[in-house]
Amino acid sequence: MDKIVIEGGYPLKGTVNISGAKNAALPAVAACLLTGGPHRLRGIPRLRDIHTIKSIMEKLGTVFQETGETLEVDSGNLTAHEAPYELVKTMRASILLLGPLLARLGRARISLPGGCAIGARPVNLHLKALVSMGADIHMEHGYINAQASKLKGADIFFDIPTVTGTENIMMAAVTAEGTTTLRNSANEPEIKDLAEMLCAMGAEIEGAGTDTIIIHGVDHLVPCEHTIIPDRIEAGTFMIAAALTRGDVHVNGCRPEHLTALTEKLRQTGTKITIKDKSIHVRGPESIESVDIKTMPFPGFATDLQAQFMALMTVAKGWSMFRETVFENRFIHVSELRRLGADIEINGNQALIRGREKLLSAPVMATDLRASASLILAGLVAEGGATEVHRIYHLDRGYEDIENKFRTLGAKIRREKGPAV
Ligand code: EPZ
Repeated sequence: MDKIVIEGGYPLKGTVNISGAKNAALPAVAACLLTGGPHRLRGIPRLRDIHTIKSIMEKLGTVFQETGETLEVDSGNLTAHEAPYELVKTMRASILLLGPLLARLGRARISLPGGCAIGARPVNLHLKALVSMGADIHMEHGYINAQASKLKGADIFFDIPTVTGTENIMMAAVTAEGTTTLRNSANEPEIKDLAEMLCAMGAEIEGAGTDTIIIHGVDHLVPCEHTIIPDRIEAGTFMIAAALTRGDVHVNGCRPEHLTALTEKLRQTGTKITIKDKSIHVRGPESIESVDIKTMPFPGFATDLQAQFMALMTVAKGWSMFRETVFENRFIHVSELRRLGADIEINGNQALIRGREKLLSAPVMATDLRASASLILAGLVAEGGATEVHRIYHLDRGYEDIENKFRTLGAKIRREKGPAV
């Protein structure tokens, strides 16, 4: 397995270009199941998770063709309806295939996504909503077996604002009989992006980006062209890295309106931030003030930036309190940050970080996607030699070409091929 080796102590300077959003690209590719193609998707990032959803959809009969920055997707000739365990177990977001397959074929067999490092991550809200739309769903041998001759519109309330749950049901509802109302729906930017793509295919959707979304079922959808929004979590990761290394970085090709919570918190640390139309200029402070964080659904502070911001707070002045309200086990990066000398105390879903003067380099192990990003950031400032981050296949799931992007900003960072396991 590969590892990333970082020599800390180099302030990041220059411009980084942000890739398309993983969490917008995955539902967009899944939505191509709803009708024949070819759909043309632009801004699809080159990531392991994209490769995974393409592999599953190819087994269903979808044909992909990459032409430069454009991914052509044609599901005109679907020959299967099953997403196998060996692929689903590597990417929970495969559950996004359930809604479109049910809408298109009237049946789907998806391996029940297991939990992952950050929590149990059930899909009960997805299934409950589909049953209310008339689907017959039963579990057997670890698979979700779903059937529906014709999905019917329903009035659905999500107990928790679930991002992929909202996306799944939105896709299931676009050709259902009648109107579907989603209440307490998630309103992350990726939801609005998917709704825009579905409307380009002929769907009738109102309220995406709010907590109530109304979908009027239509009889016919057509292939579309759509450009994916930029990745706000990648952009936020580089903003935090610039603050942490006392750097001076232009984060280019992002949507500042998707990063208001992080921008506010970084300003409280003393970081200078200038917002432009499609870029954010970040200048790190000489001394980092500590601030408290509570993760919330959008537009609150993103849970996907919590681990990265914690790396920043490990070398801030004073104490900071983190509350993780979205996932039940999203502090797994803490034990690895402690190996670098961080002083962090966990109590349930709260973590108390006492800022230290410096971190010291050490070998550490990535445990999930955003935890690995946090360790890379910590390695950028750890002193006394090189920090090695192992198991970086987690990182490759969600960051495109990250070490080259950091190297372009002046980081001393390289990928070393490790022994195949
Ligand atoms: C999406 O996951 C993202 N993934 C996650 O990003 C992100 O952290 C999360 O939303 C929250 O913003 C994709 O979009 C592919 P949820 P998702 O359903 O949809 C509970 C990353 O690093 N819940 O909004 O799986 C759940 O346990 C990944 O890019 C149920 O109880 O998250 C959690 O506590 C990590 N039952 C809360 O809701 C359900 O049926 C929010 O989860 C569904 C969810």
